[in-house]
Amino acid sequence: MGTRYPLNFGWRFTCTDDPLYAQQACDDSDWEVVDIPHVMRELPMQYASTDSVTGIGWYRRCIELPSTVGTVHLALRFEGVATKASVWVDGIPCGTHEGAFTPFEIDLPPVVLHKQEVVVAIRCDAQEDPLVPPFGHVVDYLVPGGMYREVALLATGAYSIADLFVHSEPMERPEDRELTVHYALRCPEPPGERISLHLRLGDMQGNTIVSSLHDIAGMEGDLHMQAHGVGLWDVEHPLLYAFSATLARDGIPCDDYAIRIGFRDIRFTAKGFFLNGRLLKLRGLNRHQLYPYVGAAMPRRQQYADAEFLQGELGVNVVRTSHYPPSSHFLDKCDELGLLVITELPGWQHIGADPRWKESALRQLREMILRDRNHPSIILWGVRINESADDDAFYGKTNDTACWLDPSRPTGGVRNFGSSHLLEDVYTYNDFLHDGKRPSLADPVRVVGKRPVPYLVTEHTGHMFPARPGDPEPVLTEHALRHARVLDAMYADDRISGAIGWCMSDYQTHSQFGGGDGVCWHGVADMFRIPKYAAYVYASQQERRPVMHVLSQLHIGSHPAHAIGTVWVCTNCESVQLYFRDTLVGSAFPDRSRFPHLLHPPVAFDDLIGNRLDELEGFSKRERDLLRETLNRAATDGFDLPLLMKVRVGLLMKRHALRPSDAVKLFERFVLAWDDRDVQWEFRGVAGGKTVLSTVLRPPRSVHLEIVPDQPAMHTGETYDVVRCVISLRSEAGTLARMSHQAVHVDVEGPAKLIGPADLNLSGGVGACYVRTIGGKGQVRIVVSCPHTKPVSATILVD
Ligand code: GAL
Repeated sequence: MGTRYPLNFGWRFTCTDDPLYAQQACDDSDWEVVDIPHVMRELPMQYASTDSVTGIGWYRRCIELPSTVGTVHLALRFEGVATKASVWVDGIPCGTHEGAFTPFEIDLPPVVLHKQEVVVAIRCDAQEDPLVPPFGHVVDYLVPGGMYREVALLATGAYSIADLFVHSEPMERPEDRELTVHYALRCPEPPGERISLHLRLGDMQGNTIVSSLHDIAGMEGDLHMQAHGVGLWDVEHPLLYAFSATLARDGIPCDDYAIRIGFRDIRFTAKGFFLNGRLLKLRGLNRHQLYPYVGAAMPRRQQYADAEFLQGELGVNVVRTSHYPPSSHFLDKCDELGLLVITELPGWQHIGADPRWKESALRQLREMILRDRNHPSIILWGVRINESADDDAFYGKTNDTACWLDPSRPTGGVRNFGSSHLLEDVYTYNDFLHDGKRPSLADPVRVVGKRPVPYLVTEHTGHMFPARPGDPEPVLTEHALRHARVLDAMYADDRISGAIGWCMSDYQTHSQFGGGDGVCWHGVADMFRIPKYAAYVYASQQERRPVMHVLSQLHIGSHPAHAIGTVWVCTNCESVQLYFRDTLVGSAFPDRSRFPHLLHPPVAFDDLIGNRLDELEGFSKRERDLLRETLNRAATDGFDLPLLMKVRVGLLMKRHALRPSDAVKLFERFVLAWDDRDVQWEFRGVAGGKTVLSTVLRPPRSVHLEIVPDQPAMHTGETYDVVRCVISLRSEAGTLARMSHQAVHVDVEGPAKLIGPADLNLSGGVGACYVRTIGGKGQVRIVVSCPHTKPVSATILVD
């Protein structure tokens, strides 16, 4: 039976280059010891130059070979090396691979098979080779070099299963499926003995649902079987099944191969996207796989965390893995969560003129589809270089390749212009029309003409309005509202299958982009995946849990001319009540006038005075209304009031014998909240007649540090584990100290270590650190300290 041996620990690494490093006898004892996933050069959060992520490095490791009798084939499997890899085993050159995002296998030469151990050397070339996509022109993302995804040794006998792909068609009922099982074998040709494949479909608890035995004639082919009464994979109930094949020679099993599959029917039409026959608006975000410090070198736990963040916290139902295939761990989690995925080949706007560039792109596309075609979460293959020009000859090939390797899925290809030649199934379009004033989305007819083709917005907002976590409230609020306006426009138009915002989190990029610091501040979350206000526009569209987030802390000093203006609340509650101290200022409902189509429009409070004037004695209702209107007007526009208002207020003041200083006092009391009592605002989210969520905002008397790890335990498995700890400065009421950029220091005690620097700055009152296991078990204590407040710590168990 084939066996897989993970090889992620204890590699020797150098960031220098010498052909002698390939030799078996090379002395690497003074090289750094590293574990995989690994980035060649740690990146600063900002101002990472292209030079700091490129270059050449070498990895070496002595590996024990399995002594299993019958093993005749050994291969090294690399899940991802950025960007080019050359591999030697005991000094023998064994193969190379180009392309940072797809896996490859390198066979060990037969002459080493009898050995007990061999030395593997990998030259990792992260230079931006213009012949290898995405490079050749400017690219808006970094590709940090290194063996940044896992490595394993695969051992198989003379006969093994190389690949298995299962797709299915519904029969009369969607629950009854006709399965097509594509297999590929690795064995001597023609196979001498009677070869059979035993196929088995089971549930995830290990029960067999159906199985069948097939005699095999060729090395590769399609088999068919039927399954009745299976459950469908869906965004709400992502039901997975275990599928396996056992290869036998003359009836004696010699290899098996297991995958996870799901049954679902997807259809993009000119009237929207249908999942299992049900219309589903796709509401999503683009994801780059980059993290602070380590580029893309993050193990499973944090890959899972991104899928959980998107689906669980942000409530989106689709992610686009812009602009390359992501880690398989990420896709596994999407399968488990029911998060739909659009994935695409690596690239960015540029198509290389050299035929070798196109060959490389086609090969990377093939490798992506071969790796990923069993994931039920994937609903569309992106077969064009993101935002590139039409190239019918090239894209005819990429499209045919996808259809050939996977007849079960539609294709798309992302453009940023209209009237493009549509060789694929879905017109996928990056729509950056909205600039705050122009329409939120282009009319599809203006983009595709009258052709009734499926249409999907694959990007919006992004660079049209960058927003950093520490930016002022009005900036973060406008950022959020732009996402909300686009989503509203998407829900308004039946022809639009969905809209996928740019993007999930801030990311590191080349110098031609970003804020001059090599960071694109386009995320609805920051690089640590900490939400900005815009994140709550997405989160509040979900039905799974009540959500309410106030897009302001109601401090006058955070707003030009002290005018807080409209306070927006992202919520899926039926209404929100606002209290000032104990007085109900007013209730507000989802703003359907400004967002008529959103599932859950944000709630707007345009009036922060409301019923507070009831505490004024001796004024009639009409007088209070006039006072409220006047004070609100003065709050936003200053005291140069319209003439009629001045006259009416003048009369009112006369009637009540009020002097100008009394008017100022009213302004101070009701607009500025300047009195000797504490200011306190409370927002109550109401659903089903009950308060389900409450947020209290008041000026902090003191602040303290807080540390929240995203898991209570770490586990070293096939490689190290990484926990993210969110660090924030908060008031005694738990409110984020948004104006703080406090420097904090992190210490780690126990069997773990910090990733990145021990001194970091909060941004907008919040930041995070990553801590990884280093081998060994026990308790890890992470201590965070800064001047003027007590240190805090979190304890995590490493098991
Ligand atoms: C798009 C591009 C993305 C990103 C985005 C920024 O044009 O496809 O990769 O650069 O702009 O808004």
